[in-house]
Amino acid sequence: MSERPVALITGPTSGIGLHLAELLARDGYDLVLVARNAEVLSQLAHDWAQQYDIRIRPIAIDLSQAGAVETVVTTVREHGLRLSVLVNNAGVGVYGLFTDTPLQHERDLLHLNVLALTELTKSFLPDLRESKGHILNVASTAAFEPGPYMAVYYASKAYVLSFSEAIAEELAGDGVRVTAFCPGLTRSGFQHAASMERSGLLRLPEMDAREVAEAGYRAMLKGKRVAIPGLFNRILVASVRFTPRRWVAHLVAWLSRPKQNI
Ligand SMILES: NC(=O)c1ccc[n+]([C@@H]2O[C@H](COP(=O)([O-])OP(=O)(O)OC[C@H]3O[C@@H](n4cnc5c(N)ncnc54)[C@H](OP(=O)(O)O)[C@@H]3O)[C@@H](O)[C@H]2O)c1
Repeated sequence: MSERPVALITGPTSGIGLHLAELLARDGYDLVLVARNAEVLSQLAHDWAQQYDIRIRPIAIDLSQAGAVETVVTTVREHGLRLSVLVNNAGVGVYGLFTDTPLQHERDLLHLNVLALTELTKSFLPDLRESKGHILNVASTAAFEPGPYMAVYYASKAYVLSFSEAIAEELAGDGVRVTAFCPGLTRSGFQHAASMERSGLLRLPEMDAREVAEAGYRAMLKGKRVAIPGLFNRILVASVRFTPRRWVAHLVAWLSRPKQNI
């Protein structure tokens, strides 16, 4: 058994998750790192174990596959680890009109962004209750809006926000703090993975992934229920609240259209 607190983070091989994981490592958490890229995972495990004098268990797995969460839970249990922090960060987008996008991509998205996040949260709740720990669920500013051209992604993040706020209320009495973290556009591998290169959305201001991760980490430590990094993103979300949903959908569609058609 580890004597240091243990944090599990999904998607630590790039972008926001990479910086969130390093913040946890810097603060002396032993880490369970979950993503697909085995090579990057073992490199990170090697580097951070030496640099921060912590223990790291990499688990190379595709969380969009059925049974993946059970494998993660079994591995964590086999190593006698009890979590104090769960960071559900891994997520993907699919860009394109809903009529044109491949259903399998959207199935994988829903498995990762929604199902794996829910299953991991339920599986590790006993640990988090016992440690009076933290859950950090990475949603998005997309959670507040309907999102034409990324309809399933926006809907998946609305789920993450609603689910997180609901269980934050349920778990408050147990001392488990749940944060729904809602970044806006952030420089990372996300846009390429979502085939968003032509999206007009990429003209909006982008934040740096490290800056975003630092804001998310601070929000988690403070036990904030919902956190939005960056003034632009906070203004955007506030303005959406006072605008008819139909107009918001129209505006998001206009902003998200492939650039050459604008
Ligand atoms: N970038 C943005 O503009 C933005 C804005 C708002 C919210 N977000 C959210 O922030 C979170 C992190 O995204 P990011 O921007 O940092 O993107 P990223 O650089 O593409 O990182 C995504 C991470 O998720 C992992 N991942 C992807 N598919 C996976 C799968 N099937 N199984 C396990 N791990 C998987 C990736 O690792 P492997 O490839 O090694 O599996 C990677 O570590 C996501 O939930 C995203 O929705 C991003």
